[in-house]
Amino acid sequence: MTLTAAPSPPEAAASLLDRLTGRARAPRAERAVVVLHDVTKRYPNGKEALKDVDLVVPEGDFVFLVGPSGAGKSTLMKLLIRDELATKGVVVIDGADLARIPRRRVPKVRRKIGIVFQDFKLLPRKSVWENVAFALEVTGTPRRRIRPAVDSVLAVVGLTGQAQQLPTQLSGGEQQRTAIARALVHDPRIIIADEPTGNLDPVISWEIIQLLLRINELGVTILMATHDAEVVTALRKRVVALEDGRIIRDEMSAAYHRED
Ligand SMILES: Nc1ncnc2c1ncn2[C@@H]1O[C@H](COP(=O)(O)OP(=O)(O)O)[C@@H](O)[C@H]1O
Ligand SMILES: [Mg+2]
Repeated sequence: MTLTAAPSPPEAAASLLDRLTGRARAPRAERAVVVLHDVTKRYPNGKEALKDVDLVVPEGDFVFLVGPSGAGKSTLMKLLIRDELATKGVVVIDGADLARIPRRRVPKVRRKIGIVFQDFKLLPRKSVWENVAFALEVTGTPRRRIRPAVDSVLAVVGLTGQAQQLPTQLSGGEQQRTAIARALVHDPRIIIADEPTGNLDPVISWEIIQLLLRINELGVTILMATHDAEVVTALRKRVVALEDGRIIRDEMSAAYHRED
């Protein structure tokens, strides 16, 4: 399927994919922030981690990505931040086809996505405040804009009082909230969280989930990979289930029962 080479069609003839991705003008409510169309990812060793994946995520959605270890959840997320390129198919973030954007525009598209990992990935010698500020410093944000931005995201995640602590002085939940603040500081459209509660006990996991729900209510689209069947089932959000690289289920208000 050719997305950009074709002459622009009259608006009425625009495909659903074009409308969803903003290639053709679409009413805002119909816009999708994430589109994967017929995506296959084969790693250099021949492993097909994703096979013919189709996924459309409208702005403001909260999506759980579930499935056993090795199903392809992390690979899908790596495609969204252009850490990896699709072998086949199209990945579109907020209207930008990731395989076709010029290299110089990659950082700008990446900043639309905040990412949160299972193991937090904080800089150990920097304080909470500095960890969050660093994300802005590396993108050349002027000093005067950094302070208010960092202060406000630390307030959102409830860490104003711990701003000067080092990661080693924090609980696991506080470390993950620091990572969420860092993900938020660029004012992203999407937060991708790859098993963000994987290292946390159940009570703290719920705190992190509540925080992600609150951020979602602020209008940020959330895509969260998890093994936590209890959390997924309790919240009745959209559930996309991967197995062996394929989407085997995509349901609204769904439950999740692990079979592994
Ligand atoms: N860089 C890589 N090279 C080769 N195979 C990989 C690579 N990354 C992941 N895989 C394989 O792709 C499959 C999907 O992995 P992954 O996306 O990490 O799954 P999940 O996050 O659901 O556990 C697994 O079989 C994994 O071993
Ligand atoms: Mg993974």
